[in-house]
Amino acid sequence: MRKPIIAGNWKMNKTIEEAKELVMNLKKPFSEMQDREIVICPPFVLLTTMRNIIKESNIKLGAQNMFWEEKGAYTGEISPLMLKNIGCEYVIIGHSERRAYFGETNETVNKKIKAALFHNLKPIICVGEKLAEREKGITEKIIKKQITEGLTNLSAKEMLNIVIAYEPVWAIGTGKTATSEQAQEVHKFIRNLLSEKYGKNIAEEIRIQYGGSVNHKNIADLMSQVDIDGALVGGASLKAKSFTKIVEF
Ligand code: PGA
Repeated sequence: MRKPIIAGNWKMNKTIEEAKELVMNLKKPFSEMQDREIVICPPFVLLTTMRNIIKESNIKLGAQNMFWEEKGAYTGEISPLMLKNIGCEYVIIGHSERRAYFGETNETVNKKIKAALFHNLKPIICVGEKLAEREKGITEKIIKKQITEGLTNLSAKEMLNIVIAYEPVWAIGTGKTATSEQAQEVHKFIRNLLSEKYGKNIAEEIRIQYGGSVNHKNIADLMSQVDIDGALVGGASLKAKSFTKIVEF
């Protein structure tokens, strides 16, 4: 049985005061929820403060990115060792915004995944096609390339500690969600790929989240699909009310 995982990707949002208010309002509604994992991914500078607030709660901490080296002369970067050290359990890797604006490639994604796993961080690996790619009918080709190159040389055992997030780029922040059937189709395709590579048993254990304009109205429908195991939520994770409703789906 795969435990659903709902993660809030705050992106580059929230001052410290705003973040405190948001997270204080999330603690109580989630305190009884044992049947799903809840993760918040604030910007780096807020991680320590958020960790202190969510201590002994049901909410877990994730980062939005990291570099693959442990330490050294890499001005402006944050290492997996640092993230683990301050209490992160998850780290988003290869988000489409990082691929589009910050030169992230399948190769750098792979390096980061390996470094994250080495430091016992669980990577949430983002894949997804652009609108033009969907229209050209090459969605599966793109996803296959991202999965095979991004996950190069990972063992079946390591795969059990990763989460995959399918996020069609055209659905991110646009208000256009993939229909639950469109999403299910790609999720199933991803699970089949994982099955070919790591065997059916492992593939059945790996959680695949959907991301892209998830809100409290579409979450139940998405979650009703057999291969959708959670959501990576951007915009709707920035307000306590909407994120709570999503988590409660
Ligand atoms: P969105 O973002 O929910 O605002 O579309 C999702 C994401 O980018 O992870």
